[in-house]
Amino acid sequence: MYFPVYRPRRLRKNETLRRMVRETKLSPDDFVYPLFVMHGRNARKEIGSMPGIAQLSVDLAVKEAKEAFDLGIPAVILFGIPKKKDPRGSEGYARSGIIQQAIRAIKDKLPDLVVITDVCLCEYTSHGHCGVIIKGQVDNDATLELLARMSLSHAKAGADMVAPSDMMDGRVRAIREILDRNGSEDIPIMAYAAKHASGFYGPFREAAESTPQFGDRKSYQMDPANAREALREVRLDVQEGADIIMVKPALPYLDIIRAVREEFDLPVGAYNVSGEYSMIKAAAQRGWIEEERVMMEVLIGIKRAGADIILTYFAKDAARLLNSKR
Ligand code: PBG
Repeated sequence: MYFPVYRPRRLRKNETLRRMVRETKLSPDDFVYPLFVMHGRNARKEIGSMPGIAQLSVDLAVKEAKEAFDLGIPAVILFGIPKKKDPRGSEGYARSGIIQQAIRAIKDKLPDLVVITDVCLCEYTSHGHCGVIIKGQVDNDATLELLARMSLSHAKAGADMVAPSDMMDGRVRAIREILDRNGSEDIPIMAYAAKHASGFYGPFREAAESTPQFGDRKSYQMDPANAREALREVRLDVQEGADIIMVKPALPYLDIIRAVREEFDLPVGAYNVSGEYSMIKAAAQRGWIEEERVMMEVLIGIKRAGADIILTYFAKDAARLLNSKR
């Protein structure tokens, strides 16, 4: 079938026709909205490198979560900024920790919103690494116990799902076991399964105040060059009991999202990370690109690559736009 018999432009003639043959569609159902929660009351601290995103006290986080839910977004993912950091990240698994408070407050007001928690030590440790340091190294097995405790404390506070982002080996199994042993066998795990050591996390580290105080995360996060290893990482998490598998970041890793989609039948998540958000915001502020158009193109690209779930700071903006078009 080729020109002039076949003319692809016939089906592009107008928007109604284009709508009929559109292969991929976005919906607010696709999104998870990240929230940064801090101590205090009625307090909001803008993140300079992420216009429109702020650290929020619990009361304001509840409001923000309600706005997202009212726009049709089914879930939020919570990150916490503790009062005090220490070498073992103990506020991360304290009953009175900031995330535990936020979960209780949000679930109390919005029982039908899915509350996911990021499980990682980096926001809570004084050294900013995702695990405990023993002899100058991030110690894998000593970290597992703390991640498991953190997951259980989130579940006990009422979280609907936990999402480990630390990249320690064996953490999905450790978390599954502690949840199952303590009556939380129905809490799903969304594993940051293929998480790469990325420069695109830069703005997030301002938002979560989680910059490592020495070294970098390359001894636990993946090498950006590796796609086959990404499949091995995902396979491990599936074997250990992950319910949703996530690829992160999204844009430079669309090939990996596609490969994971084809290899596994679990729901696939993709994290459209802070740097991907900030680049678009910055270029749009300079008038160099059209923000809405580029935002939607990026999100459709992530979905087209194979993601079922997109974690994105654009969730509210994109949902608002999608809702206005129907
Ligand atoms: C915690 C964590 C990070 C992100 C999500 N969970 C930062 C990191 O690994 O340094 C990044 C999210 C983003 O950039 O939007 N480990």
